[in-house]
Amino acid sequence: MDTLLRNTTVPATQTDFLPLQGTDYVEFYVGNAKQAAHFYKTAFGFQSLAYAGPETGVKDRASYAVRQNKLTFVFTTPLRSQNEIADHIYKHGDGVKTLALRVDDAADAWKQTTDRGGRSYMKPIKLSDEQGEVVMSGIHTYGETVHLFIERKNYHGAFLPGYRPWVSQYNPTETGLLYVDHCVGNVGWNQMNPWVKFYQDVMGFRNILSFDDNDISTEYSALMSKVMSNGNGFVKFPINEPAEGKKKSQVEEYLDYYDGEGCQHVALATNDIVKTVTELQQRGIEFLKVPGTYYEDLLDRVGHIDEDLEPLKELGILVDRDDEGYLLQIFTRPVEDRPTLFFEIIQRKGAQSFGKGNFKALFEAIEREQEARGNL
Ligand code: FE2
Repeated sequence: MDTLLRNTTVPATQTDFLPLQGTDYVEFYVGNAKQAAHFYKTAFGFQSLAYAGPETGVKDRASYAVRQNKLTFVFTTPLRSQNEIADHIYKHGDGVKTLALRVDDAADAWKQTTDRGGRSYMKPIKLSDEQGEVVMSGIHTYGETVHLFIERKNYHGAFLPGYRPWVSQYNPTETGLLYVDHCVGNVGWNQMNPWVKFYQDVMGFRNILSFDDNDISTEYSALMSKVMSNGNGFVKFPINEPAEGKKKSQVEEYLDYYDGEGCQHVALATNDIVKTVTELQQRGIEFLKVPGTYYEDLLDRVGHIDEDLEPLKELGILVDRDDEGYLLQIFTRPVEDRPTLFFEIIQRKGAQSFGKGNFKALFEAIEREQEARGNL
């Protein structure tokens, strides 16, 4: 099962008090939303979707929504200083503010989660325009990141009330990105288990995979990770915390530069990773590189794969296998100047895991970059 966002309602199991239909959108608070939207259109192939700002009656911010298949990103910037958005950017730099989840009943999602100890971010509110109505509510998660619950079954507009359709003459072709596969949170020292418990208790998620510092360590640094999944598997949130090593954990570097806990990477699914990554590289997206030796014994490690090895090697795409199949993945370098948020491009061919076999090669690649920044 993948995390493909389904438009139909997924029946809740008896224990699933928070049935989620998938990721509705990811909202980034950024220093310049107009330019960020242009970057994601140009480099990642997103399409203009909707705009909100002073012209639509929103006085304090400008937001640009872009879409590619079932992926929706929103870039929001404040129009003045001394407000929550400006403070967020001052502290964290550009980053993920909202991981919005689609639900059938946003009021109930808020009640279920806050009854279980979730801290309210937004009480259920109804937004409407001539295209219908949306109900949304939200709770806080790690750092200053929030989850919004979006109920849009009675809405037919471009994105949300308050937005107008954004029609542009500039429409770069898509790159084959399909939907959010998973979103990873970096949390502080000894904070992984409390956040695992939060996702279990407050949101009804379960822990489907765990990696300790023996799994995820190199000669120099380490981290620990637990993957949380909702009942139907459409929403997966791995949670990382730093672990002691000879040198500084990459999670610690993130925490230093993000100035707190936050979203480390968003994994974007594709059905043709060679085509997608070729396109992204041509458009200037920079990826982490593993040494060529990674490919020398790759097929001994993962067995037969459908893809030719040469393009994988050329592009730097990693492969890993589990009991159910294999996956191909690659990681961008951070997409802003702070060494914080990056993206993963992932193609699953049966495998439901997260590339454990690649951790070592990958983290050594990250450490080379950390060292170049003087932060190892
Ligand atoms: Fe990932």
